[in-house]
Amino acid sequence: MNGKTKIAVFASGSGSNFEALEFACREGELDAEITLVMTDKPASFVVERARQTDIRTVALEPKAFPSKQAFEEALIAILQDEGVEWIVLAGYMRLIGPTLLAAYPSRIVNIHPSLLPSFPGKDAIGQAIAHGVKVTGVTVHLVDEGMDTGPILAQAPVQVVDGNPELTAKAIHAVEHVLYKETLQSLFTSETKSKA
Ligand code: GAR
Repeated sequence: MNGKTKIAVFASGSGSNFEALEFACREGELDAEITLVMTDKPASFVVERARQTDIRTVALEPKAFPSKQAFEEALIAILQDEGVEWIVLAGYMRLIGPTLLAAYPSRIVNIHPSLLPSFPGKDAIGQAIAHGVKVTGVTVHLVDEGMDTGPILAQAPVQVVDGNPELTAKAIHAVEHVLYKETLQSLFTSETKSKA
C-alpha cells in the first residue's frame, strides 16, 4: 500500500484528460494512482496514449455482452480485482447504469465541457456555439443515473472563441486539464481526512 487513492480512468476518445491526469499523478500533484484505463472504443486514441505508460488498459465493448448489466458486472469484476476506489470519467461517452452506480455509489466523477446544467449530452461545445453564448465552461460533477447530472463539484468559465468550435475546444481542454486534477485532489484529500 502506498496510501494513494486508486482510480480507474474511463475514456472513449482522444484521452487528453487521461494524459493530463497521468502526468499529474507522476508529478505528485494528484495523490492518486491510475491502476486502470478502460475504454469502450478499442480504436480510440486513448489506447495509444495509455500504451506509452505501464498502466493496464482494458477495452470492453458493450455490444459483446448480452445486456448492460452483464457489461457492467464484467467491469466491476475487473475494477474490484485492481482495488479501484474511484472511477474517473474522462470523455467517456456512455451512460453509467444502475449496476455500476450501485457498486461505486458517489464514487464516480465526470468532466463535461459546459457550465451544467446548460448543454448536457453530446457536442456540448457545438450546442453552446449554436445558442450563441459568449461564455461556456467546464463542470466536474459526481455521476448519478442522469445524463451529465449529479452534484456539481467545480466549474470554470471559458470564453467562446470567435464562434469557432476548434478554438473553443482547445481553450476548454486547457481549462479541463487543470480543473480536473485540482478537483480530484481536493476530493481525495477531504476523503483521506474524514477517514483519519
Ligand atoms: C472532454 O472535453 C470532456 O469534457 C468531454 O469529452 C472530451 C474528451 O476529451 N466529455 C463529455 O462530453 C462528457 N459528456 P479527451 O478525450 O481529450 O480527454
